[in-house]
Amino acid sequence: MSEVKKMVAEQRNYSVLTTDDAKQIVINYIQKTELSNYEIEFGLPEINDRYDIWKVPLLYMKETIGDIVINAYSKEVDEKLSSKISVIRNRILSIQAKSSEKTKTRKKRSKEFIISNLDNMVIKGRAEVALKTLPDQSIDLIFTSPPYYNARKQYSEYESYDDYLLLIRKVIRECRRVLIDGKFFVINVSHVLVPRSSRNESSTRIAVPFDIHQIFMEEGFEFIDDIIWQKPEGAGWASGRGRRFAADRNPMQYKAVPVTEYVLVYRKKPCILIDHFIRNNPNPEIIKASKIEDDYEKTNVWYISPARDKRHPAIFPAELAEKVIKYYSFVNDVVLDPFGGIGTTAKAAKKLGRRFCTIEVCDEYIQYTLQELEVNLIDMFSERKIVYKDLSDKNDDEDFKSFEHLVHRLIHEGYSKDELYDALLKGINNIKNK
Ligand SMILES: C[S@@+](CC[C@H](N)C(=O)[O-])C[C@H]1O[C@@H](n2cnc3c(N)ncnc32)[C@H](O)[C@@H]1O
Repeated sequence: MSEVKKMVAEQRNYSVLTTDDAKQIVINYIQKTELSNYEIEFGLPEINDRYDIWKVPLLYMKETIGDIVINAYSKEVDEKLSSKISVIRNRILSIQAKSSEKTKTRKKRSKEFIISNLDNMVIKGRAEVALKTLPDQSIDLIFTSPPYYNARKQYSEYESYDDYLLLIRKVIRECRRVLIDGKFFVINVSHVLVPRSSRNESSTRIAVPFDIHQIFMEEGFEFIDDIIWQKPEGAGWASGRGRRFAADRNPMQYKAVPVTEYVLVYRKKPCILIDHFIRNNPNPEIIKASKIEDDYEKTNVWYISPARDKRHPAIFPAELAEKVIKYYSFVNDVVLDPFGGIGTTAKAAKKLGRRFCTIEVCDEYIQYTLQELEVNLIDMFSERKIVYKDLSDKNDDEDFKSFEHLVHRLIHEGYSKDELYDALLKGINNIKNK
């Protein structure tokens, strides 16, 4: 009788012998990471006896999202050879976005004319969470300038550039939900300069607007325009870029002094005909009052001086906000700024007869905004507690009691922090809608 041929894993005395062993190791590994929240499937694990490893492909909605590599002897996951968890997570998010976009476009397009019933609002909280309290399709225009990504680890709020982009994606995704179909999202962004860390190195740049553009494309927006906000020439020299060339004038050392920022314009799909918003508006006076005067910007280059304010290091000029609001919204519309700073967008909206909703995480900036705009504050997030003052002020005892009951029940049921947060927001909305 011929001897049964041993499998490679057996011949090599590996600890990981079968494809099932390999999958189980990956399942255990994934359970300890943020990927445990997603329904990940596995391709066929492959053995590589040259390097003594097993490679297990990961799939999400039938698409490959990365590989996890296991040392065949030690059974340990080799993180250097495996795909990075953050990269896998981003692939999942972009697959989710593509698939929800497909289902949405398959749904019948609504031609109903929506008039938002939101009042003016200043919300203190994190945009990615605070936005969840706003109803679907309640905003007519979004104009914002996101926080700056500081590439120097010691100054950065974000663990990595990937984490920064994840925050931007979460905000764009929620913004899409609250924006009325076919309406505009305008965003002011610029590349980030990474200063050189020693004399032997040169400075580099991160093309943040191009990465954010990709997110808009994946999250169900149509690209409309790239407006260049051009500042006076002197404005760019502060960045230090171009100084070296100015002194030495050697070819290849040339670096352009940045005097522009992008104002990128997107529209929420489905892009209903603009005519729909003009013809179907029940109030013709609004259309008349929203007409734009003769001296409007004719090209995509807008010359505007930057603004300075001792109270905030990175505001945009009121002139920029006013132009965007005039060109992309009607009188009485609701204009949202999820990264509101000291309220430049909100103030411009008010001046132009629009309603406003501004969200900002920093209490100091919120206080400056409140000094200039007469409106109640909705304070929904402080440290690890959810404070929803407005709710306790406005609702009678009966409602507030049920809110408290909800919190106790959820804690008792062992909800995780994130689940509790989501559930609380749902609870808040339920009470508000009563
Ligand atoms: C570039 S500034 C916007 C300034 C604003 N355009 C103005 O003119 O005042 C970005 C703002 O986002 C705020 N911010 C950062 N992370 C946030 C978050 N997760 N949610 C809400 N606001 C945030 C910062 O505190 C900062 O004020």
